[in-house]
Amino acid sequence: MEAGNEEPPLSQATTQPSPRNALVTGSSRGIGAAIARRLARDGFRVWIHYRESGEAAEALLKEIQGVGGDGRLLAFDVASAEAIERVLVPAVASEGPLDVLVNNAGIARDGLAARMGDANWDGVLEADLSGPFRITRAVLPGMLKARRGRIVNIASVVGLTGNPGQANYSAAKAGLVGLTRTLALEYAKRNILVNAVAPGFIETDMTTRLPKEKILEQIPLGRAGTPEDVAGVVGFLCSDAAAYVTGQVIAVSGGMVGS
Ligand code: NAI
Repeated sequence: MEAGNEEPPLSQATTQPSPRNALVTGSSRGIGAAIARRLARDGFRVWIHYRESGEAAEALLKEIQGVGGDGRLLAFDVASAEAIERVLVPAVASEGPLDVLVNNAGIARDGLAARMGDANWDGVLEADLSGPFRITRAVLPGMLKARRGRIVNIASVVGLTGNPGQANYSAAKAGLVGLTRTLALEYAKRNILVNAVAPGFIETDMTTRLPKEKILEQIPLGRAGTPEDVAGVVGFLCSDAAAYVTGQVIAVSGGMVGS
């Protein structure tokens, strides 16, 4: 064995830091799945969260484990305060604290405001804004105790600009931006960094029915985004390289809109 290539002494080998826990909501598919893959690659133990797509979540966990990553599954409805208390709170108590929370799960229920029923208004606000708030509230005590944490909220460019037909969705995402900036101010002194990523047009199940050619005309980079484009920025925000970044909104939109 050449000099310098010796095995580390046992005392050093056993002080390896334990894997850091990262919960990505709605990570059985789309942008969430890409974020889960990215964080797993970066060494996080990823909590793959889903509501109904258990098979897809399990397949993703197997895929991550197959390439040497680590993770676990967690199922609850982000729009249910009761489910968050029943499922997430005990999971964090027994396996936490979380080092990273990515509030990614979200829905859109489009329609013009004059004809938008309460069900579509409330449904989107619950899933896209109240859910992230309650999930954050559930994981904050552990982060506060550990005096470290990263929270990334997946907002949207329409939360910055507005968008006809999306009064509920753009209001929820704008609210998420306000929540992000406030949490960043409240917890900066405790080393909990909170940022938002605002995707533009990303090709996933959510956008399959949108008029792609028309939208592409508005994108300076001239192409739709991929889930990996978003995951790369989330990975950065969860890394040591972003240790001095908090309260920011980063648009991942091919230049469509600034933040
Ligand atoms: P998607 O529809 O493929 O994935 C959304 C995920 O959230 C799914 O796994 C779904 O099961 C989960 N989810 C939704 N409601 C839930 C609930 N009540 N409880 C638990 N899980 C729930 O969509 P995509 O595109 O991957 O969206 C991810 C995030 O990115 C969403 O917050 C979305 O608003 C946001 N976004 C997406 C854009 C796009 O162009 N695709 C643009 C801007 C923002």
